[in-house]
Amino acid sequence: MTDVLPQSDNATQPAVGRISPCRMVDLTEHSDPRGKLTVVEPGKEVDFEIRRAYYIHHVPAGAERGAHGHRRLRQLIVAVHGSFEVVVDDGYASARFVLDDPSRGLYVGPMVWRDMVAFAPGTVGLWLVSEPYDESEYYRDYDEYLRDARAIA
Ligand code: TYD
Repeated sequence: MTDVLPQSDNATQPAVGRISPCRMVDLTEHSDPRGKLTVVEPGKEVDFEIRRAYYIHHVPAGAERGAHGHRRLRQLIVAVHGSFEVVVDDGYASARFVLDDPSRGLYVGPMVWRDMVAFAPGTVGLWLVSEPYDESEYYRDYDEYLRDARAIA
């Protein structure tokens, strides 16, 4: 991977994602004495149609996930409980986002390599994505990914 710049504040991240930049998205929250309800709606909090959802849970201590990129897929990643970090890399720059707030999500667009690390015990991560599952749409090999990512003008 390219060098990860030390970052502690998501607001100061370098732009990563040459097709569309990775960014934190504030979700719409309805809060009242009964608790909080958070909404993700296409056309509002995300600019893609949500065609699939999955969640990751029971991640063992020290486990790392991801290590792939997508050719077309767009996604919003939310730590609905607990926390983890997503390291994104577009072949030129990388950045680390801390996800620890269920009212904010990380948008990740096409042609971005990502690793998910530092899962706190009990974390549940939700992925809302733009495409049905299609293994042929993944990059699983970093060198292959890098070659194609660097071919993007
Ligand atoms: P994987 O891509 O390794 O997960 P992560 O991105 O968290 O590292 O996926 C784990 C397994 O789940 C793998 O066998 C593919 C399968 N899978 C599906 O069948 N459908 C899906 O929608 C997803 C995301 C994964």
